[in-house]
Amino acid sequence: MNTEAQAAPPKNRRYFHLDCAIIGQREIAQEHFVIRLSCPEYDGDFSPGQFVNLKCDDTPYGRLYRPFSILRYHKHSRTIEILYKVVGSGTMWLKEQPEGTVLKILLPLGNAFTVPNGARRVALVAGGVGIAPMIFLAEHLRNTRPQADVLFLMGARAKDGLCIPLFEEARIDAEYATEDGSFGHNGLVTDLLRQRFTASSAEQSDAQAESSDSAQSQGFDYIACCGPTAMMAEVQHIVEGRCKAEASLEERMACGIGACFGCVQTIREDDGTIARATTCRDGPVFPLDKVVFEQ
Ligand SMILES: Cc1cc2nc3c(=O)[nH]c(=O)nc-3n(C[C@H](O)[C@H](O)[C@H](O)COP(=O)(O)OP(=O)(O)OC[C@H]3O[C@@H](n4cnc5c(N)ncnc54)[C@H](O)[C@@H]3O)c2cc1C
Ligand code: FES
Repeated sequence: MNTEAQAAPPKNRRYFHLDCAIIGQREIAQEHFVIRLSCPEYDGDFSPGQFVNLKCDDTPYGRLYRPFSILRYHKHSRTIEILYKVVGSGTMWLKEQPEGTVLKILLPLGNAFTVPNGARRVALVAGGVGIAPMIFLAEHLRNTRPQADVLFLMGARAKDGLCIPLFEEARIDAEYATEDGSFGHNGLVTDLLRQRFTASSAEQSDAQAESSDSAQSQGFDYIACCGPTAMMAEVQHIVEGRCKAEASLEERMACGIGACFGCVQTIREDDGTIARATTCRDGPVFPLDKVVFEQ
């Protein structure tokens, strides 16, 4: 995870195009798989929010690289874990591959979340497979900021999409929402955020009324979100710039390194001007208040 000072992507970024071998693959929910990849030639690191491009076909000249967030990285064994949902030809092919299959991988890609150093109350809001970078971030915060109070809100259409086994194995407590009401709150994950955000803001007002020290904020210091565009747009609406918030975007991508401009995202700069950024190279993590969501 970057510190605030490191937020800008380095100009001279190095990418590696390597081989990695499948060392395990398990279905953790219907059509959701966790794949483990051994990548012994990579001696770098990953921060929460970063991703890899994985070649999801076996044709020699095929270019079916697909972006996937890092779910976990075990540096000592150079093992990458990815959570993927089967949605089309590439992920369908991937789930059929046995252990030992060697895949091409491009890494490390993208920037990372920048949780403020002093953040004590953090909310992570995930929808669907947006859970992957959030689990990485939650585990990272537990290891590096044990004093931080982290609230994990997870939403999906139905119970299966919540990937509850992932939370159980990571020993992460979460509040859940399903659109069909099959588990947790019957509705949207953003309903949960709205309730908590309103409650936090009320607590903050009370605290400020009782104390002249406005630095003793009871609200969230930082919010991260990843999931469907409509979900992240709603988080933006709820937060309204009242605390630092970041969104990890999941645009469709091709090259993954800023060369093809196939993943351009509209950004509103601080002075109101509109700019274009590549999600793969300038992102995928952006300040939430700067993202112009086009739905
Ligand atoms: C930075 C980043 C991180 C990602 N992390 C993950 C992850 O951790 N786990 C995961 O399962 N998926 C993740 N995705 C989405 C993943 O890349 C796509 O699901 C995958 O490329 C689909 O490949 P396919 O060949 O199976 O499907 P395709 O045949 O290419 O598409 C099948 C369907 O999926 C939709 N789709 C494809 N790509 C995307 C996308 N990027 N966003 C929304 N819908 C899409 C298509 O519109 C189509 O309806 C991420 C995407 C990005 C950009
Ligand atoms: S995917 Fe090519 S510029 Fe982002």
